[in-house]
Amino acid sequence: MQNFFTYRNGILHAEDIPIPNLAESVGTPFYCYTTAALEYYYRLFQSALAELREVSIHYALKANTNIAVVRTLANLGAGADVVSEGELRLALAAGISPKKIVFSGVGKTPVEISFALQTGILQLNVESEEELGEIHRIAATLNTVAPVSFRVNLDIDAKTHHKITTSRREDKFGIEWLKIPRILRSAVSLPHLHVVGLTTHIGSQITNLQSFRKSFMRMRNLITQLNASGFPIRRVDLGGGLGVLYDSESAEGLPPSPTAYAAVIRETLGDYHCQILLEPGRFIVANAGLLVTRVLYVKEGSNKIFVIVDAAMNDLIRPSLYGAFHAILPIKEPLLDMSRQTVDVVGPICETSDVFAHKRSLTPASPGDLLALDSAGAYGATMASTYNLRRLVPEILVKGDQFSVIRRRPSYKEMFSLESLPPWL
Ligand code: LLP
Repeated sequence: MQNFFTYRNGILHAEDIPIPNLAESVGTPFYCYTTAALEYYYRLFQSALAELREVSIHYALKANTNIAVVRTLANLGAGADVVSEGELRLALAAGISPKKIVFSGVGKTPVEISFALQTGILQLNVESEEELGEIHRIAATLNTVAPVSFRVNLDIDAKTHHKITTSRREDKFGIEWLKIPRILRSAVSLPHLHVVGLTTHIGSQITNLQSFRKSFMRMRNLITQLNASGFPIRRVDLGGGLGVLYDSESAEGLPPSPTAYAAVIRETLGDYHCQILLEPGRFIVANAGLLVTRVLYVKEGSNKIFVIVDAAMNDLIRPSLYGAFHAILPIKEPLLDMSRQTVDVVGPICETSDVFAHKRSLTPASPGDLLALDSAGAYGATMASTYNLRRLVPEILVKGDQFSVIRRRPSYKEMFSLESLPPWL
C-alpha cells in the first residue's frame, strides 16, 4: 500500500504540504485528508472488482461525510450508501445522482422514506416487515412505486469487534433469512413496492475472508432458493466491512486485500447473473486522514508519563469507544537511534477514558510538539461531538501543493447560537 503522509527533510508532509504549515494556518487540533489517498484507495477497490460483471460502488457516507471528500469520490464515479436524510442531502449536494444512492438503516422515519422516494433513489434497504408496510403506505400516498431490497440477517458472526458486528441473530439489523421467502411472496403482490433484490452487511473492520465467504455463500443459497420458487433475484448488495491496516507494528489482523475480497465475491456469486452493489466506507477513507494535535504538557504521574494533547475523545472517539488502535506519528521525523519512552497519550476531557494510547512507545515529546493520530479518515470527524463544550475541529483537504479548509472551526458564538433561555430566566 502506498503512503501519502511521508517525511521529507525530517518533517511529516501530506502530499507536498508540511503538516506544520497547516497547523499554522488553522491551529490545532485538525483533521487532514489527502486527495491522492482518497483517489488511490477508491481506484484500488474499483480495479480489484474489474473482473466482476455489473458491479457498482456505493461509498458509505457515515465513514466521512465532508462534502469535499464525497465530491472527490463522486468525481471518480462513486455512488452512495446513506443512512439518514442528512446524508442523503449531502450526497446529492456533493453531486451523486439519486440513481446511484441506496438508503440503509434500521429506523428510517416517515419523513426520510418520503424524501427518499421523492428524490428517486436506487433502492431502500428494508430492515423489517414493519418498515416494509410503512414504505408501502408512504409510496401509495405519493402514488409511486418504492424500489426495495431486503436486508438479510444471516445469523453469522463476522468475528470483528462486538460493537460493530451486525448480522448475528441477536443484532438489531436485517430480516431473519428464514423469513425472507414468505415476506417476499407477500411483497410482490403489493402495487406500490418493487422488490429489486437482497442486501446484507455483516459488520465493519473485518480482517478475515472466511466471514465474507460464509455470508456470501448464505446469500447464494438464499438466491438459489428464491430463483427456484419463481422470484428471480437480479441485484445483490453485499454491504461494506473490508478492514484496513491500523497497526503496522503488528502482523496480526492484517486485512485481506481488495483483490482477495473480490475473488471471494467471484467464487461465491460470480456465476449468478446478478448486479452487485458494494458499500465500502472505511477502506476508502481511513488511511486518507490524520488527526493532528499539539502536546500541551508532559506530566510525570506516580507510575507513568502522560503526554497530554489538545485533541480529545470528542474529536476521535474510536480509542475510547472500541479500544481502537491508532498509530501516533511525531511530526518531526524520529531518528533511528533516538531513545523511546513508554507513555499514555491522553486528551484534556474530564473522563478517564479520554485516552488515545496506553503504554505506547514513542520518542520523547515536549510541550508544543505536533503529533498525528494516523488512519483517522474514517469514523473520526463524523463521530465527533462538542462534549465539554469543545468546538468541532477543522478539516483540511490537501491536493499536491494546495490545501483547502473544507470545514472551518466554528466560533463560540455560532456554537451557542442554537440555545436560548426560557422566558422565566
Ligand atoms: N453499509 C452499512 C449498512 C453499514 O452499516 C456500514 C457501517 C457500512 C456499509 C460501511 O462499513 P465499512 O466499509 O466502513 O466497514 N464507527 C465504527 C464503524 C461503524 C460501522 C457501521 N456501519 C468504527 O469507528 O469502527
